[in-house]
Amino acid sequence: MIVKKRKVIIDCDPGHDDAVAIMVALANPQYFDILGITTVAGNQTLDKVTKNVLKMFDYLGVRGIPVSAGYSDPLLRPVQTAGFVHGDSGMDGPVLPEPVSTTTGLHAIEFMRKTIEQCDEKVTLIPLGPLTNIGLFLKTYPHLKEKIECIALMGGSIYGGNILAKAEFNIFQDPDCAKIVFDSGLPIIMAPTECCDEGGVLFSEQEEFKKGGKVSRFAYDLFEYYGRYCAKNGWDRVVIYDMTPIIYLMKPELFETQQLRVDIETDGKYCRGCTVCDFRGGAHVEKCEDPKTVLTHVNREAFVQVLFDALKYLDEKYG
Ligand code: RIB
Ligand code: CA
Repeated sequence: MIVKKRKVIIDCDPGHDDAVAIMVALANPQYFDILGITTVAGNQTLDKVTKNVLKMFDYLGVRGIPVSAGYSDPLLRPVQTAGFVHGDSGMDGPVLPEPVSTTTGLHAIEFMRKTIEQCDEKVTLIPLGPLTNIGLFLKTYPHLKEKIECIALMGGSIYGGNILAKAEFNIFQDPDCAKIVFDSGLPIIMAPTECCDEGGVLFSEQEEFKKGGKVSRFAYDLFEYYGRYCAKNGWDRVVIYDMTPIIYLMKPELFETQQLRVDIETDGKYCRGCTVCDFRGGAHVEKCEDPKTVLTHVNREAFVQVLFDALKYLDEKYG
């Protein structure tokens, strides 16, 4: 994959790991021109996840990146938030003042339409939450598909899952919109739970953040809270799921990938939201007109180093 500076829109549901992912993108302007952040209900309700972006930007002193709120529920069912992971605010841990900045007032899919129409080059979409905004944007404005470079998303799983034994939270939350996205014919890069798990930050490593500047200490507060959920699961690391597609777009050489047919199970008591990855190979992949780039493995040390470098950069930039 050619690595270049991309015009991107990050669609997210902060969420501790969404917040860290946004910080990694902010710290790498040589790779990302962030046209805007759009928010979607998932980890917490829409108003809470939107406020979390605004609070983080105000706290860090980030200016000039528009934030637009999207859908407050999945297409066909009410949102099932994850307060048991991210807390009542959706980003418990750091104590941040109420935001002063505000959203654009545009709905997320209107912001996407306007921005993509006006952009002089193709735009990369980076969904880090349920795919409601992305799916309904593609359904509402199918003619704009030609101006989308690719969709690099955190979502799905190869064998397992997290919210269900066989389903990952983002896809589980809105499997119907996930199906719209996966069946869109657009190039899709899928960062599944298994690869994200491999890239976790060890509890011992995050202690270093305490010694850093304002941004590193903010990250430490995020990790300290979110890490409690990871430790409860018996993990030796904090899994920052959402930074995985961001770092892939920067350094694809750190990853192993496979081109696979991936279908979305949209219903079922045990498998709703399952991303059915077809490893049968041969004719089964040949017949698949739009295989997905599935990230299967990552070089953990090099992967987490990108985060450490990002926090150092942001400490210097934002104090
Ligand atoms: O399954 C992990 C995903 O669900 C991440 O995007 C996390 O932020 C939550 O949205
Ligand atoms: Ca997320």
